[in-house]
Amino acid sequence: MLGAGSVGCFVGGAWQAAGLPVSFIGRQSVADDIAAHGLSLSDQEGWKTHIPAAAVRFSTRPAALAKADIILLCTKSIGTAAAAKQIAVHAKRKPLVISFQNGISNAEVIRKILPKLSVLQGMVPYNVVRLGPGRWHRATWGELATERNSVTEKLAARIGDRPGRLQLSGDMRSVLWGKLLFNLNNAINALSGTTILAELNQRDYRRVMAAAIVETLDLLQAAGIEPARIGQVPPRLLPHAIAAPDFIFRNLFLRVQKIDPRARGSMLDDFDAGRPTEIDYLNGEVVRLAESLGRRAPVNQAIVELIKQREAGVEHIWSARDLRNYVLDGHRGATGFGY
Ligand SMILES: NC(=O)c1ccc[n+]([C@@H]2O[C@H](COP(=O)([O-])OP(=O)(O)OC[C@H]3O[C@@H](n4cnc5c(N)ncnc54)[C@H](OP(=O)(O)O)[C@@H]3O)[C@@H](O)[C@H]2O)c1
Repeated sequence: MLGAGSVGCFVGGAWQAAGLPVSFIGRQSVADDIAAHGLSLSDQEGWKTHIPAAAVRFSTRPAALAKADIILLCTKSIGTAAAAKQIAVHAKRKPLVISFQNGISNAEVIRKILPKLSVLQGMVPYNVVRLGPGRWHRATWGELATERNSVTEKLAARIGDRPGRLQLSGDMRSVLWGKLLFNLNNAINALSGTTILAELNQRDYRRVMAAAIVETLDLLQAAGIEPARIGQVPPRLLPHAIAAPDFIFRNLFLRVQKIDPRARGSMLDDFDAGRPTEIDYLNGEVVRLAESLGRRAPVNQAIVELIKQREAGVEHIWSARDLRNYVLDGHRGATGFGY
């Protein structure tokens, strides 16, 4: 697991608990945390496991890549190119590289730097939160996915039906765009400054998310890309389910999707830590798709601009109503969104 933070520690720990030999490469603070407390994992279905510190192979040095047969890249997207360069220098066994990152184009970035390696795109559907020292918790639903090939078939078989199970797909582009529709909420959540559940309980935030999804679906249709269904609701119905009145949203959507009250978007963590966000790999992908089609994506563009302002130091928590007024009312005439 290269870039062992929330995703890397949870998935790597779950796979180790399933019997796979896993090594983690990450930062000193995470190494110290696990050395002091071991690795404790849990999920919403009541699964819990603890791996004692002595059983966790955690290194802060990329030289540990030398023995890897499969490298799961779990850094934020802004760290992709640097991590791929470390793989180029240190990996010795022609490993398979799988990006377990959000966004559409990470595998492409890695392939450019590592043209001789097999690089696959993966997808992590659920939210992982760090609950305390050495503790990571899977706070939403879904199954990991990656492309099907002879190696990933063996990997999925080794994990079996245990937590961290891996689904295989023949069309990851469609899976990634299906996931991105949900990730369009990351920026809205970060601008709201609150938990995902508290944010989604306010309809005006959901209206902004629905409009961002409608805009994306229209562009995907124009590009001939069919986003995969991730979760219970088909992509075309997603904006309607999300923008529905509170009573319907809570009873239909939230009851099925089950979001832990502690789940937080990782972009909010980026704000708190003063780090650049992944916005260029999320809503920014939609803006680039629009440009490639000679079109515009005003809703997603407005959201990108607000996140960039925050990255530049403008601290502001957007109330649901203000965000809706700013992002939608300014653009509704141009786009015809009904939300
Ligand atoms: N967290 C979630 O719930 C979730 C769910 C689905 C998908 N994702 C996606 O999964 C990816 C990882 O997210 P995350 O939340 O797990 O991020 P994270 O908690 O920030 O973990 C990444 C860790 O890797 C470290 N790192 C970066 N470059 C490294 C390198 N070259 N060598 C060693 N360590 C390195 C980072 O340190 P620095 O901070 O010092 O760079 C950080 O500690 C992102 O694309 C995210 O969007 C996250």
